[in-house]
Amino acid sequence: MDSDPSADGGPPSTPSERNTDTTAVSGPLGATNDTESLPLPPYPSDLGPPTLHVARQMRDVLEFSRRAHESGDVVRTRLLGQGEEFHLAHPEFLKRVLVSERNAFGKSADFDLTFGEGLLTVEGEQWRRQRGALQPLFARESVMGYAEGITEQVRRRTDRWSDGDRFDLQCELTGMTLDVLFATVLGRELALDGDERLRAAAENLHEWFVPTSLFLPPWVPTPARRRFEAAKVTLREEADRLLAERRADPPTNPADAEDLLSLLVGLQEVGADESAMLTDDRLRDQMITILFAGHDTTTTLLTFAFWALANDPEIKARFQEEVDRLDGRPTAEDVGELPVTDRLVTETLRLYPPVYVLPRRTTRSVVLSGYRIPADERVIAEIRRIQRDPRFFDAPEEFRPSRWQGDLRSELHDFAYAPFGGGPRVCIGREFALLEAKLALATIGREYDLYWLGENQADGEPPLSPAMTLRMEQGQEFLVTER
Ligand code: HEM
Repeated sequence: MDSDPSADGGPPSTPSERNTDTTAVSGPLGATNDTESLPLPPYPSDLGPPTLHVARQMRDVLEFSRRAHESGDVVRTRLLGQGEEFHLAHPEFLKRVLVSERNAFGKSADFDLTFGEGLLTVEGEQWRRQRGALQPLFARESVMGYAEGITEQVRRRTDRWSDGDRFDLQCELTGMTLDVLFATVLGRELALDGDERLRAAAENLHEWFVPTSLFLPPWVPTPARRRFEAAKVTLREEADRLLAERRADPPTNPADAEDLLSLLVGLQEVGADESAMLTDDRLRDQMITILFAGHDTTTTLLTFAFWALANDPEIKARFQEEVDRLDGRPTAEDVGELPVTDRLVTETLRLYPPVYVLPRRTTRSVVLSGYRIPADERVIAEIRRIQRDPRFFDAPEEFRPSRWQGDLRSELHDFAYAPFGGGPRVCIGREFALLEAKLALATIGREYDLYWLGENQADGEPPLSPAMTLRMEQGQEFLVTER
């Protein structure tokens, strides 16, 4: 049994006075026979009537979340024609969602609708088999083998940059991370100035999650959703093409496969146990899942890291000093010897977690801090809010990589910092993403200086654009100078 019954004692007789009370969340929790009599979490106190929640979230979902959690760690908001949504912003709740009571929190329908039966979506036995089949490709040793391919793709793109260039960095890095993912995990090099249809399709996978559509019932055919559907068709065609290529020359032993599609085709060919799940439809879903999960997240991380460097000359000086000490192109071995770059990445993922919320659906009734969340309700675990909580981080809104220099990690609650999620469904691409991010930062940082030409907002943040990942608004230009 997966859930931790020790977490399921009797609920407090009344909800904690303010549900930000951490003792209440770590005290007796969970469902009992009495659960039905417990109150639902409150609506946020100063966000107007629930009927306005959707409009407010569509306008500014991040500000909505910030203000909502001023009312407490668990709050309820009203959706339009889709019931209600329960927002959780405490590491202890996140731990219950991802580990101790994970069976009570299934994947939400958005995942099915968007990624079919890929690894992000499936659950139970099917998930276990898919994860087992894909794990070898993402294990640390395999990932280290991609280092050269990663730097090659980064260089291929940056070789075209010249002193004085100005461009939308996020857009440029989206191209780069897609080049990397295709060349390494999918085993096909993209044309630098071509493959535009494919690149646009990968970008449009986001469209399902833009706030102007996300809060509307799934059957409403918004323009964003139409772009998303068209993107899926294009990517499925590409997947078919790549699969046909691999089938012409399948590896006889799946363990010899060096890229995802060869691995999957190899498993099919040898009739491995996993082959039952490897129908062509599922192979395509898998490819689209990896494409979506694996490039935009790293793009976002890199864009915010360069923005942070451009904003703080001292942090930039320390970073440049470190990468300048490297003896030539950074390698997989160098990556472990770059503590300043490592802290830069860690802090970027804290303040700007690309996956800033984790959506789930309750499979049974659960009790949090004396409040009841009924079965079959939408739950949002607020990673970004947790990582900006002053109870866990000093000056949480400040970009301060040095905070990671001492013992902070060992002192923190395990789930106060969780940009890659956690528990059994922790990001499978974590090692890959960290390797790619550090190699790209070091490769670019040794040769170029990037200056942001945009303007921060009043709160010191760059203009943000939340969809499935939290990105910078499009069109934010950077100036490139050669060092
Ligand atoms: C900075 C980069 C990345 C971040 C912040 C990130 C974050 C996450 C998070 C938070 C989850 C958990 C989702 C949930 O519990 O609902 C996840 C899952 C996943 N990620 Fe990543 N990810 C990154 C890069 C990658 C890369 C590079 C790949 C693949 C090449 C990848 C593939 C996946 C897959 C397939 C899952 C689903 C795993 C499962 O359910 O077993 N991710 N990622």
